[in-house]
Amino acid sequence: MKKILPCSCMWALLALVGCGTGSSTDSESPDDSEATAAVNDPATIEAGKQIFRFDTFGNETYWTEKLRLHEIVDEQVQPVEALALGLKVDLDKLDFTKFVLKNPLFASGTRELLRQDAVVGLKATFDEQGRIKTLGVTCALCHSTVDNALLPGIGHRLDGWPNRDLDAGAIIAMSPALTAEQKAVYKSWGKGKYDPRYNQDGRNGPVVIPPAYGLAGIKRVTFTGDGDEIAYWNRYVGVTQMGGHGTFTEPRTGVSVTNGSDDLISSKLPALQAYQLSLVAPRPPAGSFDAKAAQRGKVLFDGTAGCATCHSGPKFTDANTRLHAPAEVVSEPEPDGAPSYASRSATKQYRTSPLRGVWQHPPYFHNGTAPTLEAVVSTYNTRKSLGLSEADIEDIAEYLKSL
Ligand code: HEC
Ligand code: HEC
Repeated sequence: MKKILPCSCMWALLALVGCGTGSSTDSESPDDSEATAAVNDPATIEAGKQIFRFDTFGNETYWTEKLRLHEIVDEQVQPVEALALGLKVDLDKLDFTKFVLKNPLFASGTRELLRQDAVVGLKATFDEQGRIKTLGVTCALCHSTVDNALLPGIGHRLDGWPNRDLDAGAIIAMSPALTAEQKAVYKSWGKGKYDPRYNQDGRNGPVVIPPAYGLAGIKRVTFTGDGDEIAYWNRYVGVTQMGGHGTFTEPRTGVSVTNGSDDLISSKLPALQAYQLSLVAPRPPAGSFDAKAAQRGKVLFDGTAGCATCHSGPKFTDANTRLHAPAEVVSEPEPDGAPSYASRSATKQYRTSPLRGVWQHPPYFHNGTAPTLEAVVSTYNTRKSLGLSEADIEDIAEYLKSL
């Protein structure tokens, strides 16, 4: 496990910085074209935001009763370890006065963070002795990060930004309720990756956690275009992965799961979807790309490199009209002999990835096999024999960074 800072150091630093001003920043950068395409009733969007950030759909049944992760978090995970596992801390929720040095709570800082509802994507309740009684997870666990305003891992929320630091597999593998074989699979995933089908089909081939922004106007969701709208996949994940109470059935893959005898998901899906559709892709930071090179790259992208034949329209995807067979796509075969991800999906095909905000979330392709945008373009150049020069590859990469 990567050490960030020794515990004492960390909290001393927090005490020194002594902030916790509680100012909330709105992370979403304005993008009118996308915002207008989204459902825009403010009350619905606000309700969806609360669900996205804080709703567990009753999945404490799974994370607490079945996996018993609350015991581990309560006793064994210190804040520094939590940060090293990629968990993020919401600065706007932190009350620093509760973290004075030598406070007995110091020894159970993660518990205090949870009590303040400051761990992004985790929800806890407590018993009379102050121990964690229940633990559940929310969408924000994987699809939010923070802007590191205070320290790495501690800042204001950035909803929709994939948490590519999160080692979800390592967290799940801490459960005392799993077999050694299951633990080995979970531990094999690494940071920023998760296999949302392993617990259904028993096969192992994790994918990168994708952004949940920039999806307005795109009628196919997931890498393989399994659903026509976000709510389809939210129900899938909410029930089959997060363990929320409700039902998901998909005849194309044979997945059929019901948790609990109540339904804590269906009524929340419309607002949850509206919130996600309101999340726009972040603009590239000023000075992060070479504008002249990007202009040359655009000409190649639209022209001889053939990228725009699939990455077309305002979202740079043809997803609304077609999907693509794995043979057309340059990201297979999978690394480490993993089974084709498409073969495990409902469509058996891939959706052309939308490219707005693509600068923000390396590594690329569903399996993360391209570490940089230069590597993406090189892969296309080799696999599709495009005959691009090194300079052309750089130019297209600069263009991608500008989207
Ligand atoms: C444990 C991590 C995890 C959690 C929790 C999680 N997701 Fe995901 N999400 C993923 C992964 C991995 C994928 C990629 C799956 C694929 O495309 O096949 C994904 C895909 C998606 C997509 C598709 C994006 C696209 O480009 O089409 C959306 C939207 C999404 N998730 C939203 C949500 C919402 C809303 C929730 C809460 C109900 C949620 N996710 C919970 C890991 C997670
Ligand atoms: C045949 C259609 C097609 C063509 C042509 C095509 N792409 Fe793609 N592109 C896809 C598909 C499908 C994916 C998703 C693959 C995956 O996730 O494994 C993708 C993924 C990507 C990604 C990764 C996005 C992410 O979020 O990880 C980038 C970047 C990209 N393409 C750029 C390009 C460039 C540059 C070109 C031209 C050199 C190009 N594409 C040509 C279909 C195409």
